[in-house]
Amino acid sequence: MSDDDSHNLSRRDLLKSVAAAGAGLGLAQFGLAAPASAESFAEEGNSAPSAAATMMGVPFQPRDIVRIAIVGTGLRGRSTLTELLGVGNVRITALCDIVPDKVERAKALMKTAGHDYDPAVYTNGERDFERLCARDDIDIVYTATPWRWHVPVCLAAMKNGKHAATEVPAARTIEDCWSLVDTSEKTRRHCLMMENCCYGYNELLVLQMVKEGLFGELKHGGAAYNHDLRSILFETRDEGLWRRAEHLDRNGNLYPTHGLGPIAWYLGIHRGDRFDYMVSMSTPELGLSKWREDNIPKNDPRWKERYLCGDLNSSLIKTVKGRTIRLEHNVSSPRPYSRINSIEGTKGLFEDYPPRIYIEGTGADDQWATIDEYKPQFEHAWWKEQGERARTGGHGGMDFVMAWRLVTCMREGLAPDFDVYDAAAWSAPGPLSVRSVARGSAPVKFPDFTRGEWRPVR
Ligand SMILES: NC(=O)c1ccc[n+]([C@@H]2O[C@H](COP(=O)([O-])OP(=O)(O)OC[C@H]3O[C@@H](n4cnc5c(N)ncnc54)[C@H](O)[C@@H]3O)[C@@H](O)[C@H]2O)c1
Repeated sequence: MSDDDSHNLSRRDLLKSVAAAGAGLGLAQFGLAAPASAESFAEEGNSAPSAAATMMGVPFQPRDIVRIAIVGTGLRGRSTLTELLGVGNVRITALCDIVPDKVERAKALMKTAGHDYDPAVYTNGERDFERLCARDDIDIVYTATPWRWHVPVCLAAMKNGKHAATEVPAARTIEDCWSLVDTSEKTRRHCLMMENCCYGYNELLVLQMVKEGLFGELKHGGAAYNHDLRSILFETRDEGLWRRAEHLDRNGNLYPTHGLGPIAWYLGIHRGDRFDYMVSMSTPELGLSKWREDNIPKNDPRWKERYLCGDLNSSLIKTVKGRTIRLEHNVSSPRPYSRINSIEGTKGLFEDYPPRIYIEGTGADDQWATIDEYKPQFEHAWWKEQGERARTGGHGGMDFVMAWRLVTCMREGLAPDFDVYDAAAWSAPGPLSVRSVARGSAPVKFPDFTRGEWRPVR
């Protein structure tokens, strides 16, 4: 069911889907669980039955070399490839893209990095990743394709016995979130959403402060993807070929995970707390229309487009423990970049962009302090170990730390830093915000993708 269809759900449809979910309960006993009914669970906040055990905390099998395939060798695929090659102990066994030249560029990066072998290449159309996933020399398939391809690639990888890693957001519908969860549990393969912002220097510094109780008991976080993408969205290459289209049929918080992932780590989401429900509202759409007016000739086919997504979406998430998260999305306005990245507790707060901190009883009343004096005590162990190497990489070093952690966890047989439940819950504000906006900012429930496993503090 598309997000649009979901707006028109009648109460009778809803009851029907609840009944279907009930039927699934019976089947689950025999290992034949029907797919979760996305709408009913989103509405009711129930958890779906599972035929298999949780994937939380499940370690990888240890291995010396991590064999990786990449589907989508565009801008992000190639930049992650460079980070992975820099980590070492990886072998890139296969590459796939619908544009052969993009794969050739990725191969050239491998040669430059001293990887003097030829990966298998798949460039035979939009579903050629299915042949790639059937190979027997791959441990994990990473996809950096346009959003709508993330779920098909991850499902094909897991069904063929590979772990899956995807760019953000993992999924665009609640139904797809459940497909990832169900398939990961059934195949016993991880599905990881590679949220690089969780590994930023400031984010991990603040996470360490949170863990050591500097902010006291937490009550509120702020998250955003506020990034002026107007010119990129209108390019006739790379993301311009697909990302503007996401603004044509959905009005909501389209790209929630960069801001939300780190806040979920601070708040221990799925490790003692869980997203409960959200409300959402959007401003009018003005930004893309204005940019087109100012920059695109009137005879261009892009003048046929009608942009639906409001420029600034503001959402509020309530957690089961009663804490709140402000979540913004704004890619259509002239403004400086910000993921907000704030966290507030009973003893003080941190806010980013620019980074500043206030802890009661330290420094002057009512005055922000810089975070510099906190760095020696709270710098995260991963940055202490890898910071120098990381800073030569993308996005201020977070991309390298993420690649290094993935390879380390897989080589050493550790549990990954995040799992399929995080992928589903951090992506869910996309479709849930669309639903809330369409219903006059009505509250919409998060499904419990963990099926009750979120409670223990890990
Ligand atoms: N984590 C980050 O910081 C970050 C940064 C940029 C982009 N991204 C994400 O990475 C993904 C890719 O973005 P990008 O900037 O690289 O876009 P891009 O357009 O440069 O790359 C996408 C690539 O996928 C290829 N492709 C499209 N359909 C395919 C299919 N069915 N099979 C194989 N290849 C296919 C395209 O030809 C293109 O080369 C998106 O999900 C985006 O949100 C994440």
